[in-house]
Amino acid sequence: MNGKALFLSLALAVFATASVSAQNDVVAGIPVNYDESKVGDYKLGLPDPLVMNNGKKVKNARQWMKKRRPEIVKLFETYEYGKWAAPKPKLRYDVIEDQGFGGLANRKQVTVYLSDKPDGPSVDVLIYLPKNVKGPAPLLLNLSFSQNNLAVSDPGVKPGTRWDPATGQRVKVEMPPMPAGAPARPRFGMDETIKTFLEAGYGFATLCYTDIEPDNKDGWKVGVRGLFFKDGQTQPANDEWGTISAWAWGISTVMDYFEKDKDIDAKRIALTGCSRLGKTTIWTAARDPRFAVVIPSCSGEGGAAISRRNYGENVAHITAESRYRYQFCYNYSTYADRVNELPVDANLLVALIAPRPLLLQTGTTDTWSDSKGEWVAAVEAAKVYELFGKDALYPGAKVDEVPAADHPVYSTLGYVIHEGGHGVMPQDWTYYLEFIKKHL
Ligand code: GCU
Repeated sequence: MNGKALFLSLALAVFATASVSAQNDVVAGIPVNYDESKVGDYKLGLPDPLVMNNGKKVKNARQWMKKRRPEIVKLFETYEYGKWAAPKPKLRYDVIEDQGFGGLANRKQVTVYLSDKPDGPSVDVLIYLPKNVKGPAPLLLNLSFSQNNLAVSDPGVKPGTRWDPATGQRVKVEMPPMPAGAPARPRFGMDETIKTFLEAGYGFATLCYTDIEPDNKDGWKVGVRGLFFKDGQTQPANDEWGTISAWAWGISTVMDYFEKDKDIDAKRIALTGCSRLGKTTIWTAARDPRFAVVIPSCSGEGGAAISRRNYGENVAHITAESRYRYQFCYNYSTYADRVNELPVDANLLVALIAPRPLLLQTGTTDTWSDSKGEWVAAVEAAKVYELFGKDALYPGAKVDEVPAADHPVYSTLGYVIHEGGHGVMPQDWTYYLEFIKKHL
């Protein structure tokens, strides 16, 4: 059986069978559609990645890179994530070096300062480098919801911090005591994953995104965006950065650090994050081409899922003022009721990663994030990968033929849907490592 036939035979109607009972039918006062027959025609007004703003067709990879790609980045800056500020401050960082996991890895704890102010925001990056690699090591940078000392159970990782809205100060975050009788095991389970990466010859780094800016609408007051506001300004302009762009800016600054570290191969850095951090992963890599491999997990609406498919969360839900409007630029919310006029969609976002390896990871019962919408975006973006002579999904991939659960497609433009819901499942780390081994 050839690859195509294999995938066709494995194609599952996962969406038809997904349970509706556990889903909310109304979010932020807006009905949620989970009926495939009511998603609408996603092609209505869908921008073509290979047609330039002046209506001419993109002829080759060079024209894509020089002309069309910058046009699309600008569209996303203007209509979805917002422009980020320039210039960046002069790079400053502190490094503590020692041994991690009882001598198994070289460990670095790096604080990257995100402003010139002594009390300004900074991000703590916890880095494990393999001992079995001579010379600079490639690594996976993981965007985490947890502070570093909560992400691993490795003694000696310094306590992370969170912003205390009451005082406007950072406070230390300690591991809460384990309940009496609880088994002694790492709370967040990253240890084994990290060790597997190290054994395979890859480093692993993790950072907590709220170091860069807290995840709420007032986050700018203590986060990076506020540093660039003019006196009296209390919100970004309509086309200026929401928090996803702010996080991306901070992560790009961490890449500036990686480029300075002689033990790290900055040309071989993979980036991953889940959910809002999946959205952040793909937008960071779209803005910063130095990330060599890109693995967004369950990025959904506002990420790699086609916005024009009205299935699960849509633009209206995500940009409702009571929800996540602040994560995007204000302009995005103005398309809530006219998504077919949106000048961008997720097929363009996926295309911005070309020709770099991109693995979209989703889940069969993650209906809110519209896993099929990510597959559709990939199918629609495949032609940009092909312009570079890169393999995208598999030949003849069709929008209605989502691969079977846990049958990863490891092409340069890849896709995997795990059996299960929203998040990263243990097997996903295996898929990430396989993809990284293949492409880094
Ligand atoms: C909400 C939101 C999603 C987002 C998710 C998360 O569910 O609607 O768009 O991905 O939060 O970040 O956990």
